Amino acid sequence: MDKKNSHLPGFTAAVIGSGSSAPSAQLTNEDLAAMVDTSDEWITTRTGIKKRHIAKNGETTASLASEAARKALESAGMKPEELELIIVGTITPEMVFPSTAAFVQDAIGAKNAWVFDLAAACSGFIYSLGIAQQFIETGQHKNALVIGAETLSKIVNWKDRASCILFGDGAGAVILKANNDEKGILRSRMGSDGSEWEVLNCQAYGSRNPSHKPLDDPNMIYMQINGRSVYQQAVRRIIETTEQCLADCGMGFGDIDLLVSHQMNARIIESAAKRLKLPDEKVFMNIAEYGNTSAASVPIALDEALRSGRIKSGDIVVLVAFGAGLTWGASVIRF
Ligand code: UT7
Repeated sequence: MDKKNSHLPGFTAAVIGSGSSAPSAQLTNEDLAAMVDTSDEWITTRTGIKKRHIAKNGETTASLASEAARKALESAGMKPEELELIIVGTITPEMVFPSTAAFVQDAIGAKNAWVFDLAAACSGFIYSLGIAQQFIETGQHKNALVIGAETLSKIVNWKDRASCILFGDGAGAVILKANNDEKGILRSRMGSDGSEWEVLNCQAYGSRNPSHKPLDDPNMIYMQINGRSVYQQAVRRIIETTEQCLADCGMGFGDIDLLVSHQMNARIIESAAKRLKLPDEKVFMNIAEYGNTSAASVPIALDEALRSGRIKSGDIVVLVAFGAGLTWGASVIRF
């Protein structure tokens, strides 16, 4: 049988298209300084963020995700009806149910796909990519649309300077396709530590704090973070998981052509990159433009890296993320 025209287990999942979207409304550090006791200087030096995009005028997680999906399909040269699986990584879904992925499926006309959301916070895209990869490698699906999409502005406390300066809205998407040469995802590795859930969460309106019961603290409707604790663990986990994922492929730091990290704080990325012995040109950074967009962060960065020519054929790219849960994960991809 001609392997090129068949769909046999053992295929790799190759990234054949990408897209991203961000709301047009922007909130600069100067705008924030007029809202809370902060300054452009503090935000820039502590985080590297200059502005973030904020969903307004009917923009939602699903509308941003659908726009990113359309662009990814266009760059892959695929029709929506060809899609077999859609996964949306998000912690700010369109509604409690149905899934954001259901809205995306309907909006783009992917009527032959099955769809679901995945909640792994900032690692949501890496987790989703790793799951889609399995379906493709086992031969069950020929393709998948994997999206990270968030409207964190909806759960941020805009009076809390410790958190509101960090986050923004957006979406990124990739199309994975079964491939039979050496290109594709070589390895994904994910980890979790639920005992640390308290350092980063949003507690209202789940089973523990249902909507009919008054909240013990009204601020529970907002995201709560212990930034210092997250910071320390993020650097360690990003290094560790990158190292392990590369080792699984028989590779080391020297094999990385580009590191596309979750954009949570420029200092976190820089200190991880230093320990991984990566020069600046091998580290993608766009946090100044978007802030932390959680699950959307890695696919937005990957899309920009691809469209700007930072990734060339044959390059080894490492995607890595860390976030609430705690969760973390990395993917090593040959383009
Ligand atoms: O993707 C996962 C989610 N991301 C995160 O959780 C972010 C990870 N953490 C971080 O990025 C950093 O920890 C922050 C940027 C959040 C904070 O940076 P830091 O260097 O860890 O600062 P800090 O929390 O230790 O605060 C230092 C000082 C404090 O004042 P005192 O106690 O030293 O007088 C804060 O009250 O900075 C003060 N501060 C601010 N000052 C001006 C905290 N937020 C602000 C602010 N503007 N926005």
